[in-house]
Amino acid sequence: MRLELQAITKRFPGVVANDAVDLVVESGEVHGLLGENGAGKSTLMNILYGLYGADEGQILVDGQRLELDDPGDAIDAGIGMVHQHFMLVPVFTVAENIVLGVEHTRRLGKLDRARASTEVAALAERSGLPVDPDALVEDLPVGIQQRVEILKALYRDARLLILDEPTAVLTPQEADDLFDAIRAFTAEGRSVIFISHKLREHRAIADRISVLRRGRIVGTADPRTTSEQELANLMVGRPVELSVSKPAATAGDAVLAVAGLGVENALGGRVVEDVDLTIHAGEIVAVAGVEGNGQSPLVRAITGLQDIAEGTVHIAGRAVKGATRKQVLRDGTGHVPEDRGSEGLVADFSVAENLVLNLWDAEPFARRGTLQFAAINAHARELVDAYDIRTPSIATTAGSLSGGNQQKLVVAREFDRPIDLLVASQPTRGVDVGSIEYIHTQLVAKRDEGTAVLLVSSELDEVLALADRVAVMFHGRLVGPFDTPISKEAVGRMMAGADPAEVLGTPPGGDT
Ligand SMILES: Nc1ncnc2c1ncn2[C@@H]1O[C@H](COP(=O)(O)OP(=O)(O)O)[C@@H](O)[C@H]1O
Ligand SMILES: [Mg+2]
Repeated sequence: MRLELQAITKRFPGVVANDAVDLVVESGEVHGLLGENGAGKSTLMNILYGLYGADEGQILVDGQRLELDDPGDAIDAGIGMVHQHFMLVPVFTVAENIVLGVEHTRRLGKLDRARASTEVAALAERSGLPVDPDALVEDLPVGIQQRVEILKALYRDARLLILDEPTAVLTPQEADDLFDAIRAFTAEGRSVIFISHKLREHRAIADRISVLRRGRIVGTADPRTTSEQELANLMVGRPVELSVSKPAATAGDAVLAVAGLGVENALGGRVVEDVDLTIHAGEIVAVAGVEGNGQSPLVRAITGLQDIAEGTVHIAGRAVKGATRKQVLRDGTGHVPEDRGSEGLVADFSVAENLVLNLWDAEPFARRGTLQFAAINAHARELVDAYDIRTPSIATTAGSLSGGNQQKLVVAREFDRPIDLLVASQPTRGVDVGSIEYIHTQLVAKRDEGTAVLLVSSELDEVLALADRVAVMFHGRLVGPFDTPISKEAVGRMMAGADPAEVLGTPPGGDT
């Protein structure tokens, strides 16, 4: 189908989410929609799927004007959508979820399970999206759940499929599988709108790319002739530094000293085993690894969130064991937790309050037991500005910000205060290029102020761009740190469990 959006405008209180957006998606095309957090991508797609009404503008399908009152109308018109957050019923099987609402029933309205299962198996086979029709959705990994969402749209005979940030939840391998499925889908003349803020992915899959910035289309580009740099500049609206420029580190005294550390999970199983790690003032040590290899409990033990079962952790000479989390943070450790929602901020508190979390009862934010709102608010305004936190006001609750802006809030608070050690876990997850550039620059600036930095990231590119030394975690054990530069391939192999001595040709840590 050929889809045409004409001058679509959508306003929310205080923001024009879509500002006279024109967009054409041709039949058989993968049309990439690129834009920073909050640019208006999801809003535009929700309008196209009949979830929101546009304030102005119109939608044409094959030249005919389309009236959308609800998603049912969009589905009837051949438009399918896979949301950022899946909308499957966890306790239903794959087949039940796929046929839900359009199912064949037997007598007394009972679902014809066998028929649904056979149909879904055939559809999955035909579309190159293998699934077990009888598996329960709640037992499936997210990559497969997403496949079920796509099959659901195909079952309804979608001719245009909207994928809103489909790769955000996928491993690189799963993302490649998704791209294969997209190619198979469009080979039959159907169209896809693909949303992501990752430039690399657009260049891999899109036939054309439209860039949305602050509600407006600022350009449509051909991915074959447009560089990532050009796309990034278009998206952010200024020249963006895609690589990190980083002078050599001048490491000082040891700040973090981890020795023989063991950490257990709730069941008493060892999730971190015999880890030794020293980080000096003025250096960034990155821990690479596939998620789930013990990086999270390692960080939690270092920052006072989880018990130390064995060994010791010292920060600037002080033992972490026996200290409360609040003491650890007060004593000069900054922590950007991977789970910002539960550990990084309080959703019901305002942006201003969250920016002084753990600090609000100390000078200058409190004086003789009285909160100093002028100081708290001035501090908030300064950080909102410096870190480009997009929020209607500093009184807005943190929970209502977009994920990327919540992340910037936590980063701003933790980077801004004087600290000896900065522990940053997945600091740029869910954050767009403009903000990634800023966070990376600030990480290096922190280092150059003399802070010891522990960076934990599952993005290997991020690790290699920032680290002065790189360690790898695998099955609860840490190897390294190794001096940089180190090849991506070598780190990748150690992430899969290869012996460092074989990968690097020297004994582990042999050069230090
Ligand atoms: N339901 C809503 N109510 C109020 N504001 C909203 C709503 N949905 C989105 N917005 C605002 O509209 C803008 C665009 O958001 P969105 O379309 O989600 O962006 P993107 O998907 O590109 O990250 C943001 O400023 C966001 O805060
Ligand atoms: Mg979105």
